[in-house]
Amino acid sequence: MTITQQDELDGLKDIGRIVANTMAAMAKAMEPGMSTRDLDEIGDRLLEQEGAVSAPRASYGFPGATCISVNEEIAHGIPGDRRIAAGDLVNIDVSASKNGYFADTGATFRLGSVPPELDRLCRDGKRAMQIGIAQVGHGKPLAGIGAAIGKFAAARGYTLIRNLASHGVGRALHEFPDEIATWPVRGDKRRMHNGLVLTVEPFLSMGGNWATEAEDGWTLYSTPAAPVVQYEHTVVATKHGPIIVTLPG
Ligand code: CO
Ligand code: CO
Repeated sequence: MTITQQDELDGLKDIGRIVANTMAAMAKAMEPGMSTRDLDEIGDRLLEQEGAVSAPRASYGFPGATCISVNEEIAHGIPGDRRIAAGDLVNIDVSASKNGYFADTGATFRLGSVPPELDRLCRDGKRAMQIGIAQVGHGKPLAGIGAAIGKFAAARGYTLIRNLASHGVGRALHEFPDEIATWPVRGDKRRMHNGLVLTVEPFLSMGGNWATEAEDGWTLYSTPAAPVVQYEHTVVATKHGPIIVTLPG
């Protein structure tokens, strides 16, 4: 969507705060031995308390309120019997709507301590997202996001998953502009305009290039198999740069 007036920004910020708070509360509640279903139920309850509706469930019939992807699962993991353990990387992605506004956020969390290279991957995954967000603003090229992230990833010896793009959001979970690359691309001449709402969500990896769907029709794995992290905010492009709306508060 394109924000043209204050009440639209207020509505978007409201659902942005709700998804951010939900994700943070789920991350805080994580404990070894807990099932991903238990974790999802915490998120489900928090969304309901806030009068928000899970977007993947309502929009696509996803079998859960939130997407929880553990270790080799990189996105769209279905909450279920799987029990999380110390040393796991757990990606929680929360998207929801309220009063017709949609926001989308995600992050990869470490349960307990993980090897130093995975600590570094998580830190750099967050940096990759921030570097992409810094390219958001009125008149700026959409391809600038992937160019900046790609430069950072290459300099640090990482790869990027190249078929999981960022996207427009705001009045639907996925809307115009579609397929915003978080990796370098040629030939994308599109530019952002004032008020445009989009996600920035690079998938940074130690060797993965591609997401492949499992037989369940949802869960995505990395090809080749390698650790992957994802960090995601919903942002508004303005004449003064990006406004991040998925902030806890
Ligand atoms: Co998301
Ligand atoms: Co998204």
